[in-house]
Amino acid sequence: MDNSLAEAGIDLLPTHVAIIMDGNGRWAEERKKPRLFGHKAGVDSVKNTVETAREIGIRHLTLYAFSTENWRRPTLEVKGLMSLLKTYLKKELANLQKNDIRLCCLGQREKLPDDVRKVLEKVIDETAGNTTMTLNLALSYGSRDEMLLSIKEIASRCVAGDIDPNSIDEKIFEDYLYTSGQPDPDLMIRTSGEQRLSNFMLWQLSYAELYFTDTKWPDFRRDQFFHALRTYSNRQRRFGKTGAQLRQE
Ligand code: IPE
Ligand code: IPE
Ligand code: MG
Repeated sequence: MDNSLAEAGIDLLPTHVAIIMDGNGRWAEERKKPRLFGHKAGVDSVKNTVETAREIGIRHLTLYAFSTENWRRPTLEVKGLMSLLKTYLKKELANLQKNDIRLCCLGQREKLPDDVRKVLEKVIDETAGNTTMTLNLALSYGSRDEMLLSIKEIASRCVAGDIDPNSIDEKIFEDYLYTSGQPDPDLMIRTSGEQRLSNFMLWQLSYAELYFTDTKWPDFRRDQFFHALRTYSNRQRRFGKTGAQLRQE
């Protein structure tokens, strides 16, 4: 653990942080601006958070950028978000390479507009060999959809005789989730004061520490991130055991 983290009161770093980046629209409305203005400012928070996570040594960062339910938003807002995503991906490729960050997508990437999907797949392919940090962008992501996909895949393998139904365990189920091969989030942050999961990683968050802040996503920068990490580092994760048992370990 590096000294600056210890000085900031962070003595235990989560391996995987997952963030529900919420509040862009309200942030813009407060400023009498269109919602897209908030989404643009939100992209700067994404850059800042990715940079901080990489710098302090977080190994997996998942950002919830667009849910399966967000397709219900006005067409113009969806278009604006897709265009921001494409610009971000194009601009960030060089940075991801320089910082040895692998990009992964969680979600129905086939539902994204073709031009966005192509850029996304190019960045995923080109960064596939990077190992210092994994950045998961949850795009057209819904946890229920993800679990149903896993169940369908496992069911068809059972029918084909490749999987014995009695052998189905947590590991096999996880093998067919978008997050296959990655550890579960240790810390889940949601900005903007909302305290719900909105169909986000319902399986993977089973034992995550939850952190809610009133700060809206465009105002979430290094200091706010450090505050969340400090809170995490002061939590006791018991995983069903007693506090006394943990002290003996
Ligand atoms: C989060 O901000 C970004 C996305 C869901 C795409 P919102 O757009 O949900 O902002 P609020 O919640 O309306 O303020
Ligand atoms: C959740 O935020 C999805 C993302 C942050 C991408 P929403 O703003 O869409 O969630 P609800 O609808 O308020 O629960
Ligand atoms: Mg919202």
